[in-house]
Amino acid sequence: MKILLLGSGGREHALAWKIAQSQKIEKLFIAPGNAGTSSVGENVPLKADDFEGIKTFVLANGIDMVVVGPEDPLVKGVYDFFKQDAQLKDIPVIGPSKAGAVLEGSKDFAKGFMQRHGIPTAAYRSFNGTNIEEGIAFLETLQAPYVLKADGLCAGKGVLIVPTLEEAKKEFRGMLDGMFGEASATVVIEEFLSGIECSVFVLTDGKNYKILPEAKDYKRIGEGDTGLNTGGMGSVSPVPFADEAWMKKVEERIVKPTVDGLAAEGIDYKGFIFLGLIKVDRDYAYAKAGDPVVIEYNVRMGDPETETVMLRIKSDLVDLLEGVAEGNLDTRTLEFDPRSAVCVMMVSGGYPQAYQKGFEITGIDDVEGSVVFHAGTALKDGKVVTAGGRVIAVSSYGNTQNEALVKSFTEAGKIHFEGKYFRRDIGQDLLK
Ligand code: AMP
Ligand code: GLY
Repeated sequence: MKILLLGSGGREHALAWKIAQSQKIEKLFIAPGNAGTSSVGENVPLKADDFEGIKTFVLANGIDMVVVGPEDPLVKGVYDFFKQDAQLKDIPVIGPSKAGAVLEGSKDFAKGFMQRHGIPTAAYRSFNGTNIEEGIAFLETLQAPYVLKADGLCAGKGVLIVPTLEEAKKEFRGMLDGMFGEASATVVIEEFLSGIECSVFVLTDGKNYKILPEAKDYKRIGEGDTGLNTGGMGSVSPVPFADEAWMKKVEERIVKPTVDGLAAEGIDYKGFIFLGLIKVDRDYAYAKAGDPVVIEYNVRMGDPETETVMLRIKSDLVDLLEGVAEGNLDTRTLEFDPRSAVCVMMVSGGYPQAYQKGFEITGIDDVEGSVVFHAGTALKDGKVVTAGGRVIAVSSYGNTQNEALVKSFTEAGKIHFEGKYFRRDIGQDLLK
């Protein structure tokens, strides 16, 4: 099979690495890819949302399947673009239709969807320019801290958690006033959930589903989960508290009603569903202490979760994706690797604030026994250079989580670029 994978981050390098190992792959292209993906496939200089360019390439190269990494092309309707084109309509796209991508593209839609299908999620209301005073009154009924969410996509920046009512009112007005442009023309205000987070990934053909290995990501820049939020400083899989009993609740209360709800609403969804969950540590109206509650949906895999999840899938990913495309995912096998996987993200100095790019990266070839996934790298004059805040993910297996962590940061120590930084405590909170 000839596959075109869209995207350019660490998530896409991890997907490409796994796809390239398949018995069924004949040729893998990545558009646009990065310096790492070119080692497992062929990069194509096309943007992931250049649909006309993608069409030309797909037809010229006899592509059999398109796998979509990031949310942006999905929200813009790449699935529908293929389905509506006479020449492309029989080429499967792994990713939801535009209507399905709204689960990530609109928080207000996602909350309404969960309410319609009885899926546990924080109590909420949505507001816009027409009912600002009602929003202020709603805030007054809640307890601190206050959670304010821009309805639309904001590159992961649209959620504010505010400690006082005074600030919450101010930020709420600011958001409706255009703090995040059009994306915050509608604001979701919701109840704060206290607990510990976990990312659960589902692959669905629209009817059947498989639950992939779960993972936890680490968003803060500093060790001990301190400092500014980042795109993710590392991940672990499995997550010890996501044991069989907990995952059964996730499946019964969240996965099944989500897949069935999409089908019942007539939404085409053949792809990944990312459930951002929280194991709440006290009782709520819709969940008891210890139960899973949904914080958000994403319509793609997570980054840097994919950099550990792919290590833990033993089965052939392309076989599973074929099951998605053909609507017979129930006939495919999904086996997990029982070992732990830990990913440590190496980032540029200064990240997540201002940082410089273009520094040469050395030592990648010295890494032994771990997998190096490129996130923000580029090739310049034959050298690999830094090209983003998150630069390289080092992922390792271990018989224990700690063994995997030590392996990852030891190997990360062999890779050098000016200003490099990484956390050495990924997953440590789970071992307490
Ligand atoms: P989201 O973009 O919806 O994932 O929100 C970003 C982050 O904000 C989440 O990963 C959580 O850490 C946090 N968050 C979102 N909603 C809530 C909530 N209702 N209660 C507590 N934390 C939340
Ligand atoms: N790791 C969180 C995300 O990919 O959105």
